[in-house]
Amino acid sequence: MKRVLILGDLPGEGAAQLREHCEVEVHDDEGLGEEGLSRLIPGFHGLLTLLIHPVTDRVLAAADRLQVVANCAVGVDNIDLAAAERHEVIVTNTPDVLTADTADLTWGLILAVLRGVVSGDRYLRRGDFHGWRPKLLLGRSVGSVVLGVVGPGRIGRAVLTRARAFGVRTLYHGPSRLPEARERELETEWCGLEELLASSDVVSLHLPLNAATHHLINAQALRRMKRGSFLINTARGPLVDEAALADAVASGHLAGAGLDVYEAEPAVHARLLELENVVLLPHIGSATVEARTRMADCCFEDLYTVLVEGRVPARALVQPVSRGGWT
Ligand code: DGY
Repeated sequence: MKRVLILGDLPGEGAAQLREHCEVEVHDDEGLGEEGLSRLIPGFHGLLTLLIHPVTDRVLAAADRLQVVANCAVGVDNIDLAAAERHEVIVTNTPDVLTADTADLTWGLILAVLRGVVSGDRYLRRGDFHGWRPKLLLGRSVGSVVLGVVGPGRIGRAVLTRARAFGVRTLYHGPSRLPEARERELETEWCGLEELLASSDVVSLHLPLNAATHHLINAQALRRMKRGSFLINTARGPLVDEAALADAVASGHLAGAGLDVYEAEPAVHARLLELENVVLLPHIGSATVEARTRMADCCFEDLYTVLVEGRVPARALVQPVSRGGWT
């Protein structure tokens, strides 16, 4: 019987079918790093990982039987895809099923920073609310801002779609332009990154993390952002230099930020924690019962497709060049 290692306590009943055909072992150990995973992985044919698990060359080299890694996230920066290809291991992820919920949470952060939702809540709980006053906690009118979306992939486009409902003018930047018809439908315009940073009141990041995007928003990029603007990041923490962001907010150059992801999760830069106009969430972009259940189901389906049906799943990002040895 094939053996499957599931790293995490996942919602839903998606594992049931897999359990009928495979021996499934669950490890819910948040601290499982490269070393622990390298020790655990020998003998397993399938692996379900979370974005906190590093699937490195070393782990893959130790994985003597491994055929498939199903990553329970759309981002795959925790997996060395080139090494997976060398080791002839299929890798799948969970696109689409979390797009809407992540875009909704992005808008939650945009509204929170523009309208002081979190600082207002803190203000009231401190006992500072003594009645309606004309200048109490003045924010920005949502419809008056320009939103710049960096990365018009699935989630970026879903954020742009929602902008239309708020009557928000949008710009976007990506390595290439969307088809004209798509731009018209989204009522958005492409521009270069520098122009987007200089023209947007809110900049929202929707990029994968890789060597080219690491610290894309560094001190220089933050200086280019409009005075009084806001940065939103629901993608990956290391896209932003957190120390530079803390400086930019503390100096008043940026009016605030809304973050769901961090450079060295679960740690958050100490100075960001002190800034009242920075809203901080614990990486919950896709955290709905619906999305997380669908994400888990995608993973179980892909493990089943490879290990029981002997096929390459449609969601495969990396597939073996030769299928010898694992069919
Ligand atoms: C992902 O899927 O990459 C998110 O960060 C977690 O849902």
